[in-house]
Amino acid sequence: MSDRILQVSRLDVTFQSRLRSNSILRGIDLEIKAGEVLGLVGESGCGKSMTASACLGMVPPPGRVTGSIKIEGEEIVGRPESKLRAIRGGRIAMIFQNPMRSMNPFFTLGRQMIDVICCHRPVNRIEAHSIALSELKAVRIPDPELTLDRYPHQLSGGQIQRALIALALACQPRLLIADEPTTALDVTIQAQIVSLLRRLADEKGLAILFITHDLGLVSQLCDRVAVMYAGRIVETGSVESVIDEPCHPYTEKLLGAVPVVGRGKRDLVSIPGHVPDAAVIPPGCAFHDRCDRATEVCAKAHPPVQTFGQDHAALCHHARRAQQFTEAS
Ligand SMILES: Nc1ncnc2c1ncn2[C@@H]1O[C@H](COP(=O)(O)OP(=O)(O)OP(=O)(O)O)[C@@H](O)[C@H]1O
Ligand code: SF4
Ligand SMILES: [Mg+2]
Repeated sequence: MSDRILQVSRLDVTFQSRLRSNSILRGIDLEIKAGEVLGLVGESGCGKSMTASACLGMVPPPGRVTGSIKIEGEEIVGRPESKLRAIRGGRIAMIFQNPMRSMNPFFTLGRQMIDVICCHRPVNRIEAHSIALSELKAVRIPDPELTLDRYPHQLSGGQIQRALIALALACQPRLLIADEPTTALDVTIQAQIVSLLRRLADEKGLAILFITHDLGLVSQLCDRVAVMYAGRIVETGSVESVIDEPCHPYTEKLLGAVPVVGRGKRDLVSIPGHVPDAAVIPPGCAFHDRCDRATEVCAKAHPPVQTFGQDHAALCHHARRAQQFTEAS
């Protein structure tokens, strides 16, 4: 059996209104294998969360999805909601930025975990209780028995995020989508959640799509990274290759010229200008009015994919390794 858990190809998401057509995602290709963590980065509004929604079959109406999204070889584009529901929460799980909002404040953690486990696995409530307990132990929550009897407001943000990861794992997913899961947490708890996710990928073979603005976290956690701009993946490759030697001018700018040393954290750098509106994406390369390397062809022709070594590709007319660029300029 293939170890490819997620395969996305030529994915487009468009929102059509009476007056205009917004191309939110354009020709997205992604792949995540078992045990692999893929980081998805890019400026606000570039389409990271929409990519996550599409992978869950949860693009809101009137969004139109075309292309292909396969979970363990099974196509989800065009699937009826009843079939998607079984895949979601079963083979795919998701954790979000604000964990408190994913919990019902009126029920204990145990009640919520047992309900979800019973919904996705053929077990009774007593069996579900022991699954909940063992998953809480697996994510190293202190006093798991006691924690099961607590209400969400009696838990810290870090404990809730761990509990949600435990809940996701109790349903035995193959793919975990994490959309900025540590943004609301302090740095120490962030580090604990990141090392937990890494351990789950290594030990359980979980495939993880990790969405973030924090390049420090990408370096710590991810095997590969995909950089998005205006609804497209513009650069992808191993973390070492893309972060140490970016080939696309956008990635190079996002990374900034000078790494922030000693903070253990490196947010994306803000770039002058703004991402084009999805209704009026310019012809040629969508980045051309913000790019120092742009030439005449960039405003006219769609950029080609250029490859660098085995697993590193950039969508650009003038892609080259950052070192080459530094030497040439
Ligand atoms: N329901 C919707 N209808 C129409 N357009 C939408 C909808 N949801 C999001 N968009 C648009 O899709 C684009 C991508 O949004 P998305 O939420 O994926 O960005 P993002 O990369 O996750 O940003 P952030 O880093 O701020 O979370 C934005 O231009 C947004 O306005
Ligand atoms: S295609 Fe041209 S404008 Fe676009 S990123 Fe490459 S050099 Fe810049
Ligand atoms: Mg988002």
